Order: sequence, then structure tokens, then C-alpha cells
Amino acid sequence: MNTQAQPERIIIFDTTLRDGEQSPGATLNVDEKLTIARQLARLGVDVIEAGFPYASVGDFEAVQKIAQTVGVESGPIICGLARATHQDIKAAAEALKPAAHARIHTFIATSDIHLEYKLKKTRQEVMAIAQEMVAYAKSFVSDVEFSPEDAGRSDPEFLYQVLELAIAAGATTVNIPDTVGYTTPSEFGALIRGIKENVPNIDQAIISVHGHNDLGLAVANFLEAVKNGARQLECTINGIGERAGNAALEELVMGLHVRRQYFNPFLGRPVDSQAPLTNIDTRQIYKTSRLVSNLTGMLVQPNKAIVGGNAFAHESGIHQDGVLKHKLTYEIMDAQSIGLTDNQIVLGKLSGRNAFRSRLQELGFDLSETDLNKAFVKFKDLADKKKELTDWDLEAIVNDEIQQAPELFRLEFVQVSCGSSARPTATVTLRTPTGEELTDAAIGTGPVDAVYKAINRVVNVPNQLIEFAVQSVTAGIDAIGEVTIRLRHNKRVYSGHAANTDIIVASAQAYVNALNRLYGALQAEEAREVKREPKEESQLSSQKL
Ligand code: KIV
Ligand code: ZN
Repeated sequence: MNTQAQPERIIIFDTTLRDGEQSPGATLNVDEKLTIARQLARLGVDVIEAGFPYASVGDFEAVQKIAQTVGVESGPIICGLARATHQDIKAAAEALKPAAHARIHTFIATSDIHLEYKLKKTRQEVMAIAQEMVAYAKSFVSDVEFSPEDAGRSDPEFLYQVLELAIAAGATTVNIPDTVGYTTPSEFGALIRGIKENVPNIDQAIISVHGHNDLGLAVANFLEAVKNGARQLECTINGIGERAGNAALEELVMGLHVRRQYFNPFLGRPVDSQAPLTNIDTRQIYKTSRLVSNLTGMLVQPNKAIVGGNAFAHESGIHQDGVLKHKLTYEIMDAQSIGLTDNQIVLGKLSGRNAFRSRLQELGFDLSETDLNKAFVKFKDLADKKKELTDWDLEAIVNDEIQQAPELFRLEFVQVSCGSSARPTATVTLRTPTGEELTDAAIGTGPVDAVYKAINRVVNVPNQLIEFAVQSVTAGIDAIGEVTIRLRHNKRVYSGHAANTDIIVASAQAYVNALNRLYGALQAEEAREVKREPKEESQLSSQKL
């Protein structure tokens, strides 16, 4: 894919799996990253930043697997992040080898505050490193992106010099990060304009932007950057990411889509050109948002633009009346344009396996035979209870049954007794990783507390529950309830998600799913300790950026 050949189009660079995964508790395992990468490819992103290969063995493996399976000839560019050091760049190049289109993204800070306190280097030293490391990355791949970290707070004159050297050394994209989310839209736009006007060889590279949302301005900054020459936007699904997150992909894409007449002239197009400004299939947005939220355990706030539960809901009588008379009175975009269907009944108790499979395919789920069988059992079970199922129910089944951490502990049985004059008591049976069935019981302050205490007695890994949320997938008394939880162990956060018509069962399953992640991570750490040579250990840092 040659993104450089289309300067009038905006390149969407998704960093959900790298910067997004830096959100506390958003840790994903390799299979989950692969599931998200496949969906990002379906969404139509141009570049997937799949991880930071040198950061950990898990990151390396994830980037490599994504490069192998999603980085095919007709697929997106797969990118790996690397600090401006030989070992980081080498690890990125190695992990990216299987990709048909690979990009190394290397960075070094350029703000005086970072130079003085973090890097303890002079401007001259930083310039030399940037030049040398871009050239080193270029010796592995032709597609090299360079980022002057904290560009938003860097001296523009120094920035121009570093960018000129990076481009001369072979950078094909120069990315301008507002690392701490400090700039305002007009400042950020002016920074991009300054770069376009003052970096002599800027026509040999694409200008990209990357920004954090500390002041809630990331999307506004990016749109201003587009008006001033930026052609690549680095963003994440649901805006997840370090601290207050990154610029949200869905907001940028829909902003450019809904207001294309406004943006067209800035991209050299006729005002009323209907050609899309990005390659994104907007009908995949809602599904991608749900997938990322379910797998990361990071809930989407109801009033979040584009993908929040209330984004298309009209509460006031005046608005409802207006929309009924003409949609455009209060709606600037159609819910269907982001893939939010009318949620009509699609399947029922009598629907067969073929109908089930073909509806899932229409929804974009390509399941293996084994996964389809597992999902079909769950579908039949649910259809017995609910009679009529909607697309959202089907999506919940797939998310719940298929996209889960490997099942180390299996919930076999859960029963609670509670009520106004009863002490909440739970009994659970779990199958352990060695195949043993263990049953235990506990009393709690409520039914969920009792269930969690009973599960803890069996699993016996200390943890602290830090978040518990229940949402309903569809309306009605027989609706599926989705439970999302986050728990902490040794400063790391693990999430779990499950759906069931019985919210106690969903709560128990979500907890077991989170414990499976925690337990799996502990096992993987242990295995690495045993396998790792002392030399390798000193080379690998598990430190996140
Ligand atoms: O925020 C930032 O500066 C980054 C860089 C690595 C691009 O994430
Ligand atoms: Zn960032």
C-alpha cells in the first residue's frame, strides 16, 4: 500500500495496540491483540502500530504475529515502535520481518525539559542520534517514521533542524507529538504550518500528528493540523491511551466525514467532492469500539461522541418530535453510518446453524469451526431463555464465548442465596488448570461479594477489585447483562468481561476471566524466568514508555 501517493487523502494510523495499550489496565494478551488487529484491518486503517517490540517478550511476539497474519500484501502497514537506539530498532525490524509492508517508528525527545532532565543530552547530541538512528532503521525497511517526542513543547527552530536531518537520513513520515496534551488548536495548527514552511525538505515526507487529551483538545488540535498540512493522524479506538488518552479515531474520522465540505478545500479538492477523506469503512466503527472496550475492560462513557450509548438517543420531547418530523432537525449523522443497526430481531429459537453462521458472517465475524460450534451452543441456550435474539445479542455471544483469555480456571457452577432477610451466601465450583474440580462457599455483603469471596478461596491469588460495572446489551426484562470488572495485583490491572441473562453468573464469569488473565500472566512470567539466559534478561526491559 503506497500511502505517499495520495497526498489529498488522510492516512489513519491506529495506535490502539501500542499507545492505547499503555492505559492502566488495558493490558491485552497476544490473541486479543490479534483479534483487534484483524478488526482494525476490516475497519480500513492504513497503518497499525502493533506494539513496542523491545519492551517485552509479549510485545515482540504480538507484533510478529500481527505482521504475519494481518500484514499481508493487501493489508495495512504494520508498524513497530523503537526508541532511537540500536537494540530497539533491531528488535522492531526483527518482529516486523513477516509483514508485507513494514514500518519502523523511532523517536527521541526534543523539548529542553526532556533533554535536560530525562535524556541529559545536548541539542547537538540529540540531532546526531536522530540522524544516525533513522539511517539505521532505514537499513532494515524503506518505510521509516521519526517522532521528536514532546514536539508540542519544543523550540520550533530546533525542531525544524531535527526534522530536516531525519528526512535527509531517510524518514518518510515525520510525526509531531503533543506528548503531554499541552497545546491549543491554533498553536498546534501554527506549529504544523511552521514545519511546512521552514523545513526545506519537508516535501519528501508526510507530516503526521500524535496527541494526548490532557486538556480534552486532541481531536480539535488534529483537525487544525489537517488544515495546515498534516496528512497522517495517529489515533486510538475510543480514545484510549496514556493518562487522558489519545485522539479518538472515531471522532476524527466522523468529523472529517460529516464535515467533508468544510475540509475538502484544505486537501485541494472541490468543496462539494463526495469522495471520502479517509479509507475507513465507517460502518465498522461501532463494532470496533465495542470490541476494544470489551477486551480492554475500558468502558465507553454514555455521552462519548460517536460511540457512547447516548450518542444517538434523543431524550427531550422537543428533540424527539423534531427527529420524527425530519431526522436532520437534530441529527448530523445517521446511526447506521457507524454500523449501529436498528437492532431488530434477527434470529430465534428455531433458527439453525446455517442461519446463525451466515448472520455472523454478515456481522463480520469469521469464526473457525470450533469457535462456531461453541458459539452455537451458547446461542441455543440463550434462545431458549430469550426467544428472540438481535444482532447485539449475537455480538455479545461471540465476544463472551470466543474473545476471551485462555481458560485456565473454568466456572462450572455458581449458586447464591440472598434476599432482604438472608445473609448473602455463594457456592462455586471451579475446574482448576490441572483438571481438578474444587467447590467452596462464602458469605458476603451482597451476592456478588459472596461469589467473589468463594472464587478467591479456590483460586487463591491475592487481588483487589477496583472496578465493577453492569450494563444491559438490549432493552427488556430478559436482556443480556454485561459485566466488566478490573482487578489489581502487584500494581498491574487485569480486566474481565462476560455476558449472561443472569447477572450473577455474568459477574462470576467476568471475575474468573480476569483471574485467568492474571494467572496466565503470572505463569508466563514464571516460564520466562526459567527460560531466559542472563544475557537476554539484561537486554529486555519490561518497562512501558
Ligand atoms: O506521546 C508520544 O510522544 C508518543 C511518541 C512515542 C510518539 O507516544
Ligand atoms: Zn503518545
